[in-house]
Amino acid sequence: MNKNEKGSIKKYNKLAGDYDLSFDGRFTVKFKRKILDFCNVSDGDAVLDVGCGNGSLINAISKKAKIKAYGIDISPNMIAECRKRCKNIDFQVSGGEVLPFDDNNFNVLIICCVLHHLNNPQKFFMEAHRVLKQGGILIVGEPYFPLVIRKFIDWIIIPIHNAGDNKMFSHKSLKRLFADNGFEIAEIYKKGTVQIIKGRKL
Ligand SMILES: C[S@@+](CC[C@H](N)C(=O)[O-])C[C@H]1O[C@@H](n2cnc3c(N)ncnc32)[C@H](O)[C@@H]1O
Repeated sequence: MNKNEKGSIKKYNKLAGDYDLSFDGRFTVKFKRKILDFCNVSDGDAVLDVGCGNGSLINAISKKAKIKAYGIDISPNMIAECRKRCKNIDFQVSGGEVLPFDDNNFNVLIICCVLHHLNNPQKFFMEAHRVLKQGGILIVGEPYFPLVIRKFIDWIIIPIHNAGDNKMFSHKSLKRLFADNGFEIAEIYKKGTVQIIKGRKL
């Protein structure tokens, strides 16, 4: 287990019970609202939320159609919260860089405000490509900060804070991850600190 994973487990295990009231819980609300809009699902679809937190997003998506819903998160306490709240969803404790699922399994995969925690985001994209069906949808929500703020966070805040963050993404670098890993971009939303990209597996 790497340093970021250990930091994330420590931080989110502590936050799990009151996540919705925490800074992160409040900060992610606008991402989750927009992803819910972006996420079209049909009966029978298999949908995975990577780094699902307390399960609120995948739970809301599961109300849109009769889907098979899954969530994974590296924090055991977050997954315990998910299991308390959503009985009809399959949750597992797992990191996001190796996805514990078969190839060509999902219609939709979501990752909301988690990519900047991963040590190897490229590996996540390769895994997302592997587990999605042909034409499957990947929706990534990530905080956006202008260059100077982003570098300040990367070089000063993240090393001091040591709370499981790895690196923030520019809009260009996020789009590049889609293009480099076999996805075409289908839709983009970018406003204030919110950037969301929806891609389709080619
Ligand atoms: C900012 S919270 C976002 C939670 C949720 N997606 C939401 O929008 O409310 C980040 C989440 O990512 C999880 N996480 C952090 N590093 C992870 C990793 N390497 N693999 C899987 N989950 C991770 C944390 O435990 C936490 O639940």
